[in-house]
Amino acid sequence: MSAIEAKIRGWDGERLLIQHHAVVDAWIVVAIHSSVLGPATGGTRLRSYPDLDAVIEDALRLSEGMTYKYAVAGFPRGGGKAVLACRTDLPAADRSVLLRSYGLLLRDLGGQFQTGPDVGTSSEDMDIIAQTGAPYVFSRTPAAGGAGSSGPYTALGVLAGIEVACQHVFGDSSLRGRSVLIQGLGGVGAPLAKHLLEADAVVMVSDPRPDARAAFGRAPDIRVVEPQDVYSTPCDVFSPCALGGILSHDTVLHLACRIVAGGANNQLRSADVAEHLAARGILYIPDFVLNIGGAMAITGIEAMGWSQQEAATRVRDSVRMSLRDVLSVVTDQGVLPDHAARQVAEARLEARRARIETNA
Ligand code: PHE
Repeated sequence: MSAIEAKIRGWDGERLLIQHHAVVDAWIVVAIHSSVLGPATGGTRLRSYPDLDAVIEDALRLSEGMTYKYAVAGFPRGGGKAVLACRTDLPAADRSVLLRSYGLLLRDLGGQFQTGPDVGTSSEDMDIIAQTGAPYVFSRTPAAGGAGSSGPYTALGVLAGIEVACQHVFGDSSLRGRSVLIQGLGGVGAPLAKHLLEADAVVMVSDPRPDARAAFGRAPDIRVVEPQDVYSTPCDVFSPCALGGILSHDTVLHLACRIVAGGANNQLRSADVAEHLAARGILYIPDFVLNIGGAMAITGIEAMGWSQQEAATRVRDSVRMSLRDVLSVVTDQGVLPDHAARQVAEARLEARRARIETNA
């Protein structure tokens, strides 16, 4: 059995769709992991991958992450994720063609998978997808009737989580004087840096893209860390806000921080890295506990009638509450945060499954 076949067989999701777009030579993969708590919802990622196996693997893991994210927070949504895999230099016209084909697929799915932006896609892209008649495309531009980008709300939740983590480790939730190193100045990292500066934290940022760094390098209070030093630079909190899989046995060996708390999805390269982090005395805050802000706020605003203000408050309160729950399981049962968070999520899913069965 091939490695990818084993992964698909081992995945406990509901539906996996794989489509090749011949004209632009791209893959469209939609992974619907769970609709137990509500309609499967998750971002649409667009980037290049080494091969189809890597695309499928990413979609499977990310979709599961979405299920856990909503379950930990007790938010009535299920998990799913879409990945559009294409070459890096895809011309703009081909990109639109790909987004429109994907929109038609979502339209056919009739709301079984509901989406928003993710790494490599924007609110403008959501507009293009929604123009095909695809329902439940979140985070469209305000001009198209959407709530705009989700990154700032994710950043709010990550900030609230960092405060709770600091309370747990240092006995003080204040970020004044705390050093926080943000990896990745994208949709989440950039607004997070701003909030941290406002909280008088010592902010360090690292991003391999020169333009992203230039914008922040000019700000007098931010220290720019070279990408090769991002894991070894001493700080109180390391905050991964770029791509996943960055916490491996190799990188963890170099970390010189007390807390890892960031917005990127799937930060652990493999599950056993969580043990390595604990052995090094580093508190790892599971990504899916921290990064629900964007998905929660945008679906709340667009599908549940929340105001922007209400969305911001709910995101902060929700992350604070679920992280406190998780950390109390950590303290009471002596388990790793990753296990504790999965335990909390599984319990919510199980309770819902039991209720569904009783009603049937
Ligand atoms: N990118 C978001 C996440 O990973 C997904 C999302 C954004 C879903 C906006 C809905 C609306 O959580």
